[in-house]
Amino acid sequence: MKYIHQIPLSGKRVLIRADFDVPLNDKGEIVNDTRIQAAIPTIKKALAENAKVILAAHMGRPKGKDAKLSLKPVQTALSKILGKEIQFSEDCVGPQAEALAAALQPGEILLLENVRYHAEEEKNGEEFARALARLADVYVNNAFATAHRAHASTFGIVPHVAVAVGGLTLENELGYFAKAFENPARPLVAIFGGAKVSTKIDAIRHVGKKADRIIVGGAMANTFFAARGYSLGKSLYEPEVIEVARQSEKELQEAGCELLLPVDVVVAGALQAGVPTMTVPVTEIPADKMALDIGPKSIELFCSAIQNAKTIIWNGPMGAFETAEFAAGTHALVRALSESPALTVVGGGDTDLALEQCHAAEKMDYVSTAGGAFLCLLEGAELPAVSALEKKS
Ligand code: 3PG
Repeated sequence: MKYIHQIPLSGKRVLIRADFDVPLNDKGEIVNDTRIQAAIPTIKKALAENAKVILAAHMGRPKGKDAKLSLKPVQTALSKILGKEIQFSEDCVGPQAEALAAALQPGEILLLENVRYHAEEEKNGEEFARALARLADVYVNNAFATAHRAHASTFGIVPHVAVAVGGLTLENELGYFAKAFENPARPLVAIFGGAKVSTKIDAIRHVGKKADRIIVGGAMANTFFAARGYSLGKSLYEPEVIEVARQSEKELQEAGCELLLPVDVVVAGALQAGVPTMTVPVTEIPADKMALDIGPKSIELFCSAIQNAKTIIWNGPMGAFETAEFAAGTHALVRALSESPALTVVGGGDTDLALEQCHAAEKMDYVSTAGGAFLCLLEGAELPAVSALEKKS
């Protein structure tokens, strides 16, 4: 697969598919510009090569044209970051987009409105993909966070452009993941957390074939406890995947991958700020309480595995860390990773938020811009947008 720095761009109309799916507040202001910042090196690379830059992206999941999900706030943010005017087309295809793209001069930037305003984007409509392709001489996919979607702007467009390559974010994401997972320095420790084991069980199974140790915390550990027959009180767990959890624990054992589960948990009557809490062994969760964080003995157990690791992959928090009473476990892991000399690769929306709370993002070797696409890598699943680029080259 080729990347943007391996092809000539001078004077060409270069359509960069970026991931500008950033969180907005009620006033439509961007509350976290990480994904915009991540696109800047790729945009600057194209500008430095004297390209005419066209940016295509989606925002949210609009049903038709929804002004609240316009990319206009991104236009303002980009203009501020790059210190230059960003032209804007109210539609990503059609006469206005075509005229603006045709008139674009080297060094100029045109941002197209949300590609998901057209239903054909998510349906990977052939005509829509062709219309996008007509705007460009070169296509650069830099939207790693959307790489698991076979949409028109990430997948369908590729056969219709003369040249299609990856951007620098895509290169970085795939590169760090390969370093951490394909040929890791050992021990490789993978940490999984979050609420639902059903969303991550495939990743646990796949990673278990490679990792030396897997740590599972957060509410998803409860389903493993249910499989062992523990009483969980009011704790969240998924009865429908108990059997799958039992089976995967067996698979990990057979693969020689050690599974570390919490040994104690912080419990409360409800997930609420200010509620009284207590710490109990996982086998003694009271009937009227729910587990909301890992306890101090679990922190010790997990941190000692982290201290011994040479490579660490982390996806998902250890508890309901958005509430201060239940943040200790997740924050302790953030600190342990920050102090570790191991290669640390972190992905997933909630985990990123925990890093931010502890001002620790810059202490990780790599923080993925993606949620779903990162999980797909952990599952060993194909990323259609990446496969399309591979096939092209
Ligand atoms: C993300 O936020 O993970 C990407 O932008 C993909 O968004 P989607 O889940 O709406 O396809």
